[in-house]
Amino acid sequence: MPDTWKLNDKRFGKFILSDTIQAKVKELSIRINSELVGKRPLFIVVLNGAFIFASDLLKGVTIDCDIAFVKLSSYQGTKSTGIVQQSIGLDMDIKGRSIVVIEDIVDTGLTLVRFLETLRKMEPAEIKIASCLFKPLAFKSDFSIDYLCFSIPNEFVVGYGLDYDGLGRNSGDIYKIIEE
Ligand code: IMP
Repeated sequence: MPDTWKLNDKRFGKFILSDTIQAKVKELSIRINSELVGKRPLFIVVLNGAFIFASDLLKGVTIDCDIAFVKLSSYQGTKSTGIVQQSIGLDMDIKGRSIVVIEDIVDTGLTLVRFLETLRKMEPAEIKIASCLFKPLAFKSDFSIDYLCFSIPNEFVVGYGLDYDGLGRNSGDIYKIIEE
């Protein structure tokens, strides 16, 4: 992929390279294999953004597991609306299960807070969170991320599943907005 990328009206510069991401994701898969072995975890992939991260992470998971998908969204353009919409819900019993929620990025954390409330009411044994990216300076919530690849500055990023108004998901590298 090129060093800079124009998506609609914004320019983005290369930020985290594919090789670096792959190495980190592999480490997380290995940790998950050793920490959750024997528990048959249920991975819940948060669409759309987490699809590439989840695919890479789960290819490295070799223990017995189930995989489900939900679709949540709170973003329009480069800003969170604060209103979380769930358009594909979870249609299975998770009581007593070990859950790992897979997100692309935790920004304010509000999307996950609402979703975690919904999950807790379904009485799982435990809920862990895996996220590729985390913006500590934007974070307004109080959960912890159990499996994290990278903490990043409070800047808008695309690539590796993340989009700007629908564009930019299809890159193995992560790009950061260039303010002009
Ligand atoms: P939060 O609710 O503020 O934590 O936002 C979570 C969701 O917002 C993520 O799952 C992404 O879909 C989206 N998001 C947050 N930051 C970015 C970004 O820098 N680029 C693209 N999407 C983002």
